[in-house]
Amino acid sequence: MSEPIGERAASDQWTPSSWKSKLAEQQPAYPDQRALTEVVEQLAKLPPLVTSWEIETLKELLAEAALGKQFLLQGGDCSESFEDCESPIIAIKLKILLQMSLVLIHGAQKQVIRVVRIAGQFAKPRSKDMETRDGVSLPSYRGDLVNRLSFTEEDRRADPQLLLRGYERAALTLNFIRSLSDGGFADLHHPEYWELDFVKLSPRPSRYQERVKALSESLKFFETLAGTVVGKVRRVDFYTSHEGLHLQYEQAQTRFIARVGKWFDLTTHFPWIGDLTRNVNGAHIEYFRGISNPIGVKIGPTSEPESLIALINRLNPENEAGRITLIHRFGDDKIEKHLPPLVRAVQQSGQIVLWSCDPMHGNTELTASGYKTRDFNRIRSEVDQAFDIHEGLGSRLGGLHVEVTGENVTECVGGVRGLTEADLGRAYRTQVDPRLNYEQALEIGLLVARRLEKARS
Ligand code: PEP
Ligand code: CO
Repeated sequence: MSEPIGERAASDQWTPSSWKSKLAEQQPAYPDQRALTEVVEQLAKLPPLVTSWEIETLKELLAEAALGKQFLLQGGDCSESFEDCESPIIAIKLKILLQMSLVLIHGAQKQVIRVVRIAGQFAKPRSKDMETRDGVSLPSYRGDLVNRLSFTEEDRRADPQLLLRGYERAALTLNFIRSLSDGGFADLHHPEYWELDFVKLSPRPSRYQERVKALSESLKFFETLAGTVVGKVRRVDFYTSHEGLHLQYEQAQTRFIARVGKWFDLTTHFPWIGDLTRNVNGAHIEYFRGISNPIGVKIGPTSEPESLIALINRLNPENEAGRITLIHRFGDDKIEKHLPPLVRAVQQSGQIVLWSCDPMHGNTELTASGYKTRDFNRIRSEVDQAFDIHEGLGSRLGGLHVEVTGENVTECVGGVRGLTEADLGRAYRTQVDPRLNYEQALEIGLLVARRLEKARS
């Protein structure tokens, strides 16, 4: 069917604010619109957080990952809090991602792209607009960018000033990340760097110990060869990412870069579209289609092959490699049914995408005592199945997306230490979703390394 070309052209005109003509889901209701406009205008004048050069480099790396030449490791908090903008908390998050990446590099014998959920992961989608406690209903907590966690009318009111505080926290965090990346952060030599006591608890500890031993031998060999210390050899790159949920915030930092003649979202290198906001006719897709960043799209059990293809076409009509990463999150009991038709549809369409597995968001459970948790066995099973399914269909799993902290929290049950529901109260710190702790994260890293190693041989 042919379309009236003139009309389509007019309605297809993209601007950083054209999303406003569409239904914008998951946006806070600000009681004071004037205050919001003032803040957005201020944000629009402030310098950007990242540059178009960095974004373009990341897109090239992701294009290579789609071809199997790199592997994407993306992780961090479900939700960052302003309070956690502290050097040890940031450093420990980078450290666990760095360690996971080294394990992966060793297994896969390919480069790993490190992308952190950081420096802007402040806005959260919620299943309900309101939260009710003891008969009192207040707006849901939507992340520190929007309102405050404590359950009072004042704290739950959407406050535009928090957009500025979020931008500032993001800038401070990025400043610290950039200096750590440059300054010998990857000091891999001290045995205490690898906190591996837990491997003794594993049913097959030798496998883990062997990997770490082999890793340190490789390091020594490399250093002898290069005559230098690995930590000083080159900078360790970290890219930033967050869910591009709060469209006023993203729009304020959207700039036209004359050098390339394109628009970029300069709040982050790699924004993603959440599972609840990927409606092809909605405001989020409208915003994302006009920016040139590489973008992640979360897909889940409600994704249908036909609508997924339409969505990718809308976001990447030129079929540019590196542009789209599909982050699938089904749950260990659903992936087998839902993933294969989507993989086949993408294969038939000829669209170039990078596939990444998020084994966290489909496996969230509520315990009898009211804790949101995730079972390590289910997380591990979803990752394993994801590798099997892609391999079986001649596709490729090229990334892993996890919610993780380097801190010793007790939020997910299971893992070699066998955390149970009774342990959850001990160190449950997350404000939204449960994260893998240090040991659990490394265990998943070791599993993925093994799968990548197997795929090579
Ligand atoms: C998240 O990544 O924290 C999240 C909310 O995920 P999803 O959109 O996949 O549910
Ligand atoms: Co989450």
